[in-house]
Amino acid sequence: MKAIAVVPGKPDSVHLADLAKPAVDDVPGGRGVLVKILRVGVDGTDKEINAAEYGAAPPGHAFLVIGHEGFGQVEAVGPNVSEVKPGDYVVATVRRPGSSLYDLIGTNDMTTDDTYFERGINLRHGFLTEYYVDDAEFIVKVPQGLREVGVLLEPLTVVEKGIAQAYEIQRRLRVWRPRRAAVMGAGTIGILATLVLRLRGLDVTTFGLTRKPYLNSDLIEALGARYESTADLPILDGGPFDLIFEATGYSPVVFDSMQALAKNGVLVLSSVTGGDRKVEVPADKINLEFVLGNKVMVGTVNANREYFELGVRDMAQAESAYPGWLGRLLTHPVKGLENYRELLDTLTTARGAIKVFCEVAELGGG
Ligand code: BGC
Ligand code: ZN
Repeated sequence: MKAIAVVPGKPDSVHLADLAKPAVDDVPGGRGVLVKILRVGVDGTDKEINAAEYGAAPPGHAFLVIGHEGFGQVEAVGPNVSEVKPGDYVVATVRRPGSSLYDLIGTNDMTTDDTYFERGINLRHGFLTEYYVDDAEFIVKVPQGLREVGVLLEPLTVVEKGIAQAYEIQRRLRVWRPRRAAVMGAGTIGILATLVLRLRGLDVTTFGLTRKPYLNSDLIEALGARYESTADLPILDGGPFDLIFEATGYSPVVFDSMQALAKNGVLVLSSVTGGDRKVEVPADKINLEFVLGNKVMVGTVNANREYFELGVRDMAQAESAYPGWLGRLLTHPVKGLENYRELLDTLTTARGAIKVFCEVAELGGG
């Protein structure tokens, strides 16, 4: 079967590879689930893997199949799988357990191991292929009514984890009634964070670089949130905020966000910044306000099954509260694995793209 792969360490090596079709029995204990891939989203991570900034092939392989935002349909299950059945729509989680305590208790997103295993990213093949097989443990069912937008689940889970962790941390306050939230960045993650915070009833301001109106600001305003361009309203003038979700990919914004945080507030950092940028900051002032204001800052990456299930519920709520809204994020479909060049080019150059994805196979009827 066809697969889109890269040669890790070799820039712009994206190519079409050939893989054997997996089988349900590849997974021990009768727990295998064979999934036919329908759609796979791509994001900055795929861009950086193709640029050879990171990514590693599975042991014994010269290439890595990319794609970690997979959406598919179950084709067959092992004898000990009761959670899903053939025909069900599913999304697989990305990270696979290592050996730390956190991995052993099903929270591999919190691993303390230095080496981590992520499908389509590090040491495990991804989903830009025709079929995959995995343990039922890592397969999450998506209701049929969400199949048009199911490919958005994985990016949504990154947001779900960050926000759930913020609420979990704020239990330190006994009573926490956040009112004002800010989202830094109006890309795919920023838009999805705006959605989740609006579903939680917060008053949300989302900051982006571009002046409105454009699709991203329209989507944000359609949720009843405010869109601000930092060209007109500096982050510092917009605060204070009880909760801030940072997703710009530009690390200096972290320090502005720290200063825009309200007393007792929580700042969630989700940008993966691989560079070595340096900035000068008012360190005494930031530190003093953090100490005197009992503020907290937390980093977040990846998501475990719990957040995928939370994401499914929020998608269902989003479809009923804002019908058709999620579908508007699916801006750039590219048909067929063989069009991998177009897929990567669209990802790197398309203007106004929110979600670029590969239509590997038709969604089909019923
Ligand atoms: C993925 C996460 C992953 C992270 C770091 C992101 O693009 O969505 O699942 O943990 O990259 O590899
Ligand atoms: Zn991703």
